[in-house]
Amino acid sequence: MTGTGERPIRIVHVVGARPNFMKIAAVMRALSRRGERFRQLLVHTGQHYNENMSQVFFEDLGLPAPDVYLAVGSGTHAWQTAQVMLRLEPVLLDYRPDWVVVPGDVNSTLAAALVASKLRIKVAHVEAGLRSGDRTMPEEINRVLTDHLADLLFTTEPSGNEHLAQEGIAAEKVRYVGNVMIDTLVRLLPRAEALWPALAERFGVAGRYVLVTLHRPPNVDDPATLAQILSAQAEVGETTPVIFPVHPRTRQRIADLPAGAREAVLRGVQLLPPLGYLEFLALEKHAAVVLTDSGGVQEETTYLGVPCLTARPNTERPITVTAGTNRLVARERGALLAALHQVMAEIGPGWQPPPPPPLWDGAAAERIAAALEDEPGQAGGDHTRAV
Ligand code: UD1
Ligand code: UDP
Repeated sequence: MTGTGERPIRIVHVVGARPNFMKIAAVMRALSRRGERFRQLLVHTGQHYNENMSQVFFEDLGLPAPDVYLAVGSGTHAWQTAQVMLRLEPVLLDYRPDWVVVPGDVNSTLAAALVASKLRIKVAHVEAGLRSGDRTMPEEINRVLTDHLADLLFTTEPSGNEHLAQEGIAAEKVRYVGNVMIDTLVRLLPRAEALWPALAERFGVAGRYVLVTLHRPPNVDDPATLAQILSAQAEVGETTPVIFPVHPRTRQRIADLPAGAREAVLRGVQLLPPLGYLEFLALEKHAAVVLTDSGGVQEETTYLGVPCLTARPNTERPITVTAGTNRLVARERGALLAALHQVMAEIGPGWQPPPPPPLWDGAAAERIAAALEDEPGQAGGDHTRAV
Protein backbone atom coordinates (compact mmCIF):
# COMPACT_ATOMS: atom_id res chain seq x y z
CA MET A 1 0.00 0.00 0.00
CA THR A 2 2.57 2.58 -1.02
CA GLY A 3 0.86 4.12 -4.01
CA THR A 4 1.52 7.73 -4.93
CA GLY A 5 -0.75 10.36 -3.47
CA GLU A 6 -1.24 8.44 -0.23
CA ARG A 7 -0.96 10.59 2.86
CA PRO A 8 2.14 9.98 5.00
CA ILE A 9 1.88 7.62 7.95
CA ARG A 10 2.19 9.77 11.06
CA ILE A 11 4.47 8.42 13.75
CA VAL A 12 5.21 9.66 17.25
CA HIS A 13 8.30 8.11 18.85
CA VAL A 14 8.46 8.38 22.63
CA VAL A 15 11.86 8.12 24.34
CA GLY A 16 13.01 9.05 27.82
CA ALA A 17 15.90 7.08 29.24
CA ARG A 18 19.44 6.35 28.00
CA PRO A 19 18.87 2.97 26.30
CA ASN A 20 15.89 4.31 24.36
CA PHE A 21 18.03 6.66 22.31
CA MET A 22 20.17 3.98 20.62
CA LYS A 23 17.05 2.00 19.70
CA ILE A 24 14.96 4.84 18.31
CA ALA A 25 17.90 6.26 16.33
CA ALA A 26 17.89 3.12 14.19
CA VAL A 27 14.11 3.17 13.72
CA MET A 28 13.98 6.86 12.81
CA ARG A 29 16.74 6.45 10.23
CA ALA A 30 14.98 3.51 8.60
CA LEU A 31 11.68 5.42 8.38
CA SER A 32 13.47 8.51 7.03
CA ARG A 33 14.98 6.42 4.25
CA ARG A 34 11.43 5.87 3.01
CA GLY A 35 11.15 9.55 2.11
CA GLU A 36 7.70 11.06 2.35
CA ARG A 37 6.06 7.78 3.37
CA PHE A 38 6.40 8.61 7.05
CA ARG A 39 6.07 11.83 9.01
CA GLN A 40 7.89 11.51 12.33
CA LEU A 41 7.69 13.41 15.59
CA LEU A 42 10.19 12.73 18.38
CA VAL A 43 8.98 13.19 21.95
CA HIS A 44 11.55 13.10 24.78
CA THR A 45 9.89 12.66 28.16
CA GLY A 46 12.91 13.90 30.14
CA GLN A 47 13.04 10.78 32.33
CA HIS A 48 16.81 11.12 31.92
CA TYR A 49 17.99 14.71 31.67
CA ASN A 50 21.66 15.11 32.63
CA GLU A 51 23.80 16.15 29.68
CA ASN A 52 25.69 12.84 29.88
CA MET A 53 22.50 10.75 30.17
CA SER A 54 20.62 12.46 27.35
CA GLN A 55 22.05 15.27 25.21
CA VAL A 56 25.33 13.47 24.46
CA PHE A 57 23.41 10.70 22.71
CA PHE A 58 21.63 13.06 20.36
CA GLU A 59 25.05 14.17 19.16
CA ASP A 60 26.71 10.75 19.09
CA LEU A 61 23.78 9.02 17.38
CA GLY A 62 22.90 11.83 14.97
CA LEU A 63 19.36 11.97 16.37
CA PRO A 64 17.33 15.05 15.49
CA ALA A 65 16.59 17.34 18.44
CA PRO A 66 13.33 16.30 20.11
CA ASP A 67 10.28 18.02 18.64
CA VAL A 68 8.65 17.95 22.07
CA TYR A 69 10.38 17.82 25.47
CA LEU A 70 8.14 16.90 28.38
CA ALA A 71 10.70 17.73 31.12
CA VAL A 72 9.31 15.08 33.47
CA GLY A 73 12.49 14.33 35.47
CA SER A 74 12.91 11.93 38.39
CA GLY A 75 10.36 10.73 40.92
CA THR A 76 8.62 7.66 42.25
CA HIS A 77 7.35 5.15 39.71
CA ALA A 78 3.75 6.31 39.99
CA TRP A 79 4.67 9.99 39.86
CA GLN A 80 7.00 9.61 36.88
CA THR A 81 4.60 7.41 34.93
CA ALA A 82 1.69 9.72 35.67
CA GLN A 83 3.63 12.84 34.67
CA VAL A 84 4.57 11.33 31.31
CA MET A 85 0.92 10.41 30.77
CA LEU A 86 -0.41 13.85 31.68
CA ARG A 87 2.11 15.69 29.54
CA LEU A 88 1.96 13.35 26.56
CA GLU A 89 -1.80 13.19 26.14
CA PRO A 90 -2.21 16.74 24.75
CA VAL A 91 0.69 16.16 22.36
CA LEU A 92 -0.99 13.08 20.91
CA LEU A 93 -4.37 14.80 20.75
CA ASP A 94 -2.77 17.65 18.86
CA TYR A 95 -0.57 15.65 16.48
CA ARG A 96 -3.00 12.79 15.88
CA PRO A 97 -0.49 10.12 14.86
CA ASP A 98 -1.33 6.81 13.25
CA TRP A 99 1.23 5.04 15.44
CA VAL A 100 3.05 5.64 18.68
CA VAL A 101 6.38 3.80 18.69
CA VAL A 102 7.84 2.89 22.09
CA PRO A 103 11.17 1.11 22.69
CA GLY A 104 12.24 -1.05 25.59
CA ASP A 105 10.89 -1.28 29.12
CA VAL A 106 11.32 1.98 31.00
CA ASN A 107 8.57 3.94 32.74
CA SER A 108 8.26 6.32 29.76
CA THR A 109 7.54 3.31 27.53
CA LEU A 110 4.60 2.05 29.57
CA ALA A 111 3.22 5.56 30.14
CA ALA A 112 3.21 6.32 26.41
CA ALA A 113 1.64 2.97 25.53
CA LEU A 114 -1.17 3.57 28.04
CA VAL A 115 -1.94 7.06 26.80
CA ALA A 116 -1.89 6.08 23.14
CA SER A 117 -3.96 2.95 23.50
CA LYS A 118 -6.70 4.80 25.41
CA LEU A 119 -6.80 7.37 22.63
CA ARG A 120 -7.10 4.38 20.30
CA ILE A 121 -3.85 5.25 18.58
CA LYS A 122 -1.97 2.15 17.54
CA VAL A 123 1.09 1.23 19.55
CA ALA A 124 4.20 -0.41 18.13
CA HIS A 125 6.52 -1.90 20.76
CA VAL A 126 10.16 -2.22 19.75
CA GLU A 127 11.88 -4.96 21.80
CA ALA A 128 8.74 -6.86 22.71
CA GLY A 129 8.36 -10.21 24.43
CA LEU A 130 11.43 -10.15 26.68
CA ARG A 131 10.69 -11.62 30.11
CA SER A 132 12.83 -12.14 33.19
CA GLY A 133 9.94 -13.78 35.02
CA ASP A 134 10.84 -11.48 37.90
CA ARG A 135 8.02 -9.14 38.86
CA THR A 136 10.21 -7.43 41.46
CA MET A 137 11.80 -5.62 38.50
CA PRO A 138 9.78 -2.56 37.50
CA GLU A 139 10.90 -3.19 33.92
CA GLU A 140 9.16 -6.59 33.90
CA ILE A 141 5.85 -4.94 34.77
CA ASN A 142 6.46 -2.32 32.07
CA ARG A 143 7.24 -5.02 29.48
CA VAL A 144 4.21 -7.17 30.19
CA LEU A 145 1.76 -4.28 30.20
CA THR A 146 3.24 -2.58 27.13
CA ASP A 147 3.09 -5.83 25.17
CA HIS A 148 -0.54 -6.36 26.10
CA LEU A 149 -1.42 -2.84 24.96
CA ALA A 150 0.55 -3.01 21.70
CA ASP A 151 -0.89 -3.55 18.23
CA LEU A 152 2.41 -4.47 16.63
CA LEU A 153 5.18 -6.19 18.58
CA PHE A 154 8.76 -6.36 17.30
CA THR A 155 10.86 -9.09 18.92
CA THR A 156 14.63 -9.39 19.11
CA GLU A 157 15.01 -13.09 19.87
CA PRO A 158 12.86 -16.24 19.64
CA SER A 159 12.15 -16.30 23.38
CA GLY A 160 10.16 -13.10 22.82
CA ASN A 161 7.81 -14.83 20.39
CA GLU A 162 7.43 -17.77 22.75
CA HIS A 163 6.49 -15.56 25.71
CA LEU A 164 3.97 -13.60 23.69
CA ALA A 165 2.35 -16.79 22.42
CA GLN A 166 2.18 -18.18 25.99
CA GLU A 167 0.47 -14.97 27.11
CA GLY A 168 -2.16 -15.28 24.39
CA ILE A 169 -1.00 -12.42 22.16
CA ALA A 170 -2.06 -13.09 18.58
CA ALA A 171 0.80 -14.20 16.35
CA GLU A 172 -0.34 -11.82 13.56
CA LYS A 173 0.69 -8.88 15.73
CA VAL A 174 4.20 -10.19 16.37
CA ARG A 175 7.21 -9.72 14.07
CA TYR A 176 10.60 -11.25 14.78
CA VAL A 177 12.78 -8.51 13.33
CA GLY A 178 16.05 -8.70 15.27
CA ASN A 179 17.76 -6.11 17.38
CA VAL A 180 17.72 -2.38 16.61
CA MET A 181 20.32 -1.75 19.36
CA ILE A 182 22.69 -3.77 17.19
CA ASP A 183 21.74 -1.73 14.08
CA THR A 184 23.11 1.34 15.83
CA LEU A 185 26.18 -0.52 17.00
CA VAL A 186 26.94 -1.78 13.49
CA ARG A 187 26.55 1.72 12.05
CA LEU A 188 28.69 3.47 14.65
CA LEU A 189 31.39 0.92 15.50
CA PRO A 190 33.83 2.38 12.92
CA ARG A 191 33.44 5.82 14.48
CA ALA A 192 33.90 4.37 17.96
CA GLU A 193 37.03 2.51 16.81
CA ALA A 194 38.49 5.76 15.49
CA LEU A 195 38.38 7.10 19.06
CA TRP A 196 40.12 4.07 20.54
CA PRO A 197 43.82 5.08 20.40
CA ALA A 198 43.12 8.37 22.21
CA LEU A 199 40.84 6.64 24.72
CA ALA A 200 43.36 3.90 25.47
CA GLU A 201 45.89 6.59 26.27
CA ARG A 202 43.44 8.62 28.35
CA PHE A 203 42.47 5.66 30.51
CA GLY A 204 45.96 4.12 30.56
CA VAL A 205 44.81 0.78 29.19
CA ALA A 206 47.43 -0.74 26.94
CA GLY A 207 46.45 -4.35 27.76
CA ARG A 208 43.59 -6.12 29.48
CA TYR A 209 41.04 -4.23 31.53
CA VAL A 210 37.62 -4.77 33.07
CA LEU A 211 34.74 -2.44 32.16
CA VAL A 212 31.89 -2.09 34.68
CA THR A 213 28.37 -0.63 34.59
CA LEU A 214 25.82 -0.98 37.39
CA HIS A 215 22.45 0.64 37.96
CA ARG A 216 19.83 -1.97 38.95
CA PRO A 217 18.24 -1.13 42.31
CA PRO A 218 18.90 -4.60 43.84
CA ASN A 219 22.62 -4.14 43.11
CA VAL A 220 23.12 -0.52 44.04
CA ASP A 221 20.34 0.53 46.44
CA ASP A 222 21.29 -1.98 49.15
CA PRO A 223 24.60 -0.74 50.68
CA ALA A 224 25.74 -4.26 51.65
CA THR A 225 25.26 -5.65 48.14
CA LEU A 226 26.87 -2.60 46.56
CA ALA A 227 29.86 -2.99 48.88
CA GLN A 228 30.21 -6.68 47.91
CA ILE A 229 30.33 -5.82 44.22
CA LEU A 230 32.67 -2.88 44.67
CA SER A 231 35.05 -4.84 46.84
CA ALA A 232 35.32 -7.57 44.18
CA GLN A 233 36.17 -4.85 41.66
CA ALA A 234 38.76 -3.38 43.99
CA GLU A 235 40.49 -6.73 44.39
CA VAL A 236 40.61 -7.32 40.63
CA GLY A 237 41.81 -3.73 40.25
CA GLU A 238 45.01 -4.61 42.08
CA THR A 239 46.19 -6.55 39.02
CA THR A 240 43.97 -5.43 36.13
CA PRO A 241 42.67 -1.91 35.44
CA VAL A 242 38.96 -1.47 36.21
CA ILE A 243 37.05 1.28 34.40
CA PHE A 244 33.66 2.16 35.84
CA PRO A 245 31.49 4.88 34.22
CA VAL A 246 28.96 5.47 36.98
CA HIS A 247 25.21 5.89 36.41
CA PRO A 248 23.75 8.80 38.46
CA ARG A 249 21.64 6.46 40.62
CA THR A 250 24.80 4.53 41.50
CA ARG A 251 26.91 7.65 42.05
CA GLN A 252 24.44 8.73 44.71
CA ARG A 253 24.50 5.32 46.39
CA ILE A 254 28.31 5.23 46.41
CA ALA A 255 28.34 8.70 47.94
CA ASP A 256 25.98 7.43 50.66
CA LEU A 257 28.40 4.65 51.75
CA PRO A 258 30.33 5.36 54.97
CA ALA A 259 33.57 7.17 54.02
CA GLY A 260 35.94 4.44 55.23
CA ALA A 261 34.07 1.67 53.48
CA ARG A 262 33.88 3.73 50.31
CA GLU A 263 37.64 4.22 50.14
CA ALA A 264 38.32 0.57 50.86
CA VAL A 265 36.06 -0.72 48.12
CA LEU A 266 37.08 1.79 45.47
CA ARG A 267 40.86 1.42 45.55
CA GLY A 268 42.18 0.61 42.09
CA VAL A 269 38.90 1.45 40.32
CA GLN A 270 38.65 4.36 37.85
CA LEU A 271 35.30 5.99 38.57
CA LEU A 272 34.11 8.08 35.63
CA PRO A 273 30.97 10.01 34.79
CA PRO A 274 28.61 8.22 32.38
CA LEU A 275 30.23 8.18 28.95
CA GLY A 276 28.89 9.05 25.54
CA TYR A 277 27.84 6.18 23.30
CA LEU A 278 30.89 6.20 21.03
CA GLU A 279 33.41 6.25 23.87
CA PHE A 280 31.56 3.59 25.80
CA LEU A 281 31.27 1.37 22.73
CA ALA A 282 35.00 1.64 22.08
CA LEU A 283 35.69 0.63 25.69
CA GLU A 284 33.27 -2.31 25.42
CA LYS A 285 34.89 -3.53 22.21
CA HIS A 286 38.39 -3.63 23.70
CA ALA A 287 37.57 -4.84 27.23
CA ALA A 288 38.82 -8.22 28.40
CA VAL A 289 35.54 -8.66 30.25
CA VAL A 290 32.52 -6.49 31.05
CA LEU A 291 30.77 -6.69 34.41
CA THR A 292 27.27 -5.27 34.20
CA ASP A 293 23.59 -5.40 35.09
CA SER A 294 22.52 -3.50 31.97
CA GLY A 295 20.17 -5.03 29.41
CA GLY A 296 21.73 -3.26 26.45
CA VAL A 297 25.28 -4.06 27.48
CA GLN A 298 24.47 -7.81 27.62
CA GLU A 299 23.39 -7.53 24.00
CA GLU A 300 26.25 -5.35 22.77
CA THR A 301 28.92 -7.58 24.31
CA THR A 302 27.28 -10.61 22.73
CA TYR A 303 27.46 -8.96 19.32
CA LEU A 304 31.05 -7.81 19.92
CA GLY A 305 32.14 -11.25 21.19
CA VAL A 306 33.36 -9.78 24.48
CA PRO A 307 32.83 -11.90 27.62
CA CYS A 308 30.13 -10.44 29.86
CA LEU A 309 29.30 -11.17 33.49
CA THR A 310 25.80 -10.09 34.46
CA ALA A 311 25.36 -9.56 38.19
CA ARG A 312 21.73 -10.68 38.31
CA PRO A 313 19.83 -13.86 39.15
CA ASN A 314 18.04 -13.82 35.77
CA THR A 315 18.05 -12.20 32.36
CA GLU A 316 15.20 -11.29 30.04
CA ARG A 317 17.70 -11.72 27.19
CA PRO A 318 18.44 -15.47 27.39
CA ILE A 319 19.96 -15.64 23.92
CA THR A 320 22.94 -13.68 25.25
CA VAL A 321 23.63 -16.64 27.55
CA THR A 322 22.63 -19.59 25.37
CA ALA A 323 24.18 -18.28 22.14
CA GLY A 324 26.32 -15.36 23.28
CA THR A 325 29.11 -14.40 25.62
CA ASN A 326 27.02 -13.60 28.69
CA ARG A 327 26.84 -15.49 31.97
CA LEU A 328 24.93 -14.75 35.12
CA VAL A 329 26.82 -14.34 38.35
CA ALA A 330 25.73 -13.91 41.96
CA ARG A 331 26.03 -10.40 43.41
CA GLU A 332 28.48 -11.56 46.04
CA ARG A 333 32.20 -10.88 46.34
CA GLY A 334 33.48 -14.47 46.18
CA ALA A 335 31.29 -15.47 43.26
CA LEU A 336 32.21 -12.32 41.32
CA LEU A 337 35.92 -12.80 41.88
CA ALA A 338 35.77 -16.46 40.88
CA ALA A 339 33.87 -15.59 37.68
CA LEU A 340 36.21 -12.73 36.79
CA HIS A 341 39.29 -14.90 37.27
CA GLN A 342 37.72 -17.75 35.31
CA VAL A 343 36.93 -15.53 32.33
CA MET A 344 40.41 -14.02 32.34
CA ALA A 345 41.86 -17.54 32.27
CA GLU A 346 39.61 -18.59 29.39
CA ILE A 347 40.27 -15.73 27.00
CA GLY A 348 43.67 -16.79 25.82
CA PRO A 349 44.76 -16.55 22.17
CA GLY A 350 42.63 -19.55 21.08
CA TRP A 351 39.40 -18.14 22.49
CA GLN A 352 36.66 -17.88 19.85
CA PRO A 353 33.42 -16.05 20.61
CA PRO A 354 30.22 -17.43 19.09
CA PRO A 355 28.69 -15.63 16.08
CA PRO A 356 25.96 -13.03 16.74
CA PRO A 357 22.37 -14.29 17.17
CA PRO A 358 20.15 -14.49 14.07
CA LEU A 359 18.86 -11.15 12.76
CA TRP A 360 21.31 -9.16 14.86
CA ASP A 361 22.64 -7.95 11.54
CA GLY A 362 22.22 -4.18 11.34
CA ALA A 363 18.94 -4.36 9.40
CA ALA A 364 16.29 -4.84 12.11
CA ALA A 365 14.97 -1.29 11.75
CA GLU A 366 14.51 -1.81 8.00
CA ARG A 367 12.23 -4.75 8.83
CA ILE A 368 10.33 -2.54 11.27
CA ALA A 369 9.90 0.17 8.62
CA ALA A 370 8.60 -2.40 6.15
CA ALA A 371 6.10 -3.73 8.69
CA LEU A 372 4.81 -0.25 9.58
CA GLU A 373 4.47 0.58 5.91
CA ASP A 374 2.38 -2.53 5.35
CA GLU A 375 0.09 -1.76 8.29
CA PRO A 376 -1.13 1.82 8.18
CA GLY A 377 -2.68 2.83 11.50
CA GLN A 378 -6.05 4.20 12.28
CA ALA A 379 -5.85 7.68 10.76
CA GLY A 380 -5.06 9.57 13.92
CA GLY A 381 -7.02 7.40 16.35
CA ASP A 382 -10.58 7.80 17.55
CA HIS A 383 -9.98 10.70 19.90
CA THR A 384 -13.63 11.50 20.39
CA ARG A 385 -14.21 8.22 22.15
CA ALA A 386 -11.43 8.67 24.71
CA VAL A 387 -11.77 12.26 25.86
C1 UD1 B 1 15.89 3.73 34.31
C2 UD1 B 1 14.94 2.61 33.94
C3 UD1 B 1 15.74 1.33 33.75
C4 UD1 B 1 16.86 1.52 32.76
C5 UD1 B 1 17.70 2.71 33.15
C6 UD1 B 1 18.71 2.98 32.07
C7 UD1 B 1 12.64 2.59 34.81
C8 UD1 B 1 11.76 2.01 35.83
N1 UD1 B 1 13.96 2.36 34.98
O1 UD1 B 1 16.46 3.41 35.57
O2 UD1 B 1 14.88 0.31 33.27
O3 UD1 B 1 17.64 0.36 32.72
O4 UD1 B 1 16.87 3.86 33.31
O5 UD1 B 1 19.76 3.78 32.49
O6 UD1 B 1 12.18 3.22 33.89
N2 UD1 B 1 19.20 10.58 37.67
C9 UD1 B 1 19.90 11.73 37.50
N3 UD1 B 1 20.00 12.25 36.25
C10 UD1 B 1 19.42 11.69 35.17
C11 UD1 B 1 18.69 10.52 35.37
C12 UD1 B 1 18.58 9.96 36.61
O7 UD1 B 1 20.46 12.29 38.45
O8 UD1 B 1 19.55 12.22 34.05
C13 UD1 B 1 19.14 9.99 39.04
C14 UD1 B 1 17.99 10.54 39.87
O9 UD1 B 1 18.42 10.61 41.20
C15 UD1 B 1 16.95 9.44 39.75
C16 UD1 B 1 17.79 8.18 39.62
O10 UD1 B 1 18.95 8.58 38.90
O11 UD1 B 1 16.07 9.41 40.85
C17 UD1 B 1 17.10 7.06 38.89
O12 UD1 B 1 16.58 7.47 37.62
P1 UD1 B 1 15.30 6.72 36.97
O13 UD1 B 1 15.13 7.17 35.58
O14 UD1 B 1 14.15 6.84 37.89
O15 UD1 B 1 15.74 5.23 37.01
P2 UD1 B 1 17.06 4.54 36.48
O16 UD1 B 1 17.70 3.83 37.62
O17 UD1 B 1 17.87 5.51 35.71
N1 UDP C 1 26.08 3.30 27.68
C1 UDP C 1 26.69 4.51 27.37
N2 UDP C 1 27.49 5.09 28.32
C2 UDP C 1 27.72 4.53 29.53
C3 UDP C 1 27.07 3.30 29.83
C4 UDP C 1 26.24 2.72 28.90
O1 UDP C 1 26.53 5.03 26.27
O2 UDP C 1 28.46 5.10 30.33
C5 UDP C 1 25.17 2.69 26.67
C6 UDP C 1 25.42 1.25 26.32
O3 UDP C 1 26.40 1.14 25.32
C7 UDP C 1 24.05 0.83 25.83
C8 UDP C 1 23.10 1.61 26.71
O4 UDP C 1 23.88 2.70 27.24
O5 UDP C 1 23.87 1.21 24.47
C9 UDP C 1 22.53 0.78 27.82
O6 UDP C 1 21.80 1.61 28.68
P1 UDP C 1 21.59 1.32 30.23
O7 UDP C 1 22.61 0.35 30.70
O8 UDP C 1 21.51 2.64 30.91
O9 UDP C 1 20.12 0.71 30.27
P2 UDP C 1 19.52 -0.77 30.08
O10 UDP C 1 19.96 -1.28 28.76
O11 UDP C 1 19.99 -1.59 31.23
O12 UDP C 1 18.04 -0.56 30.18
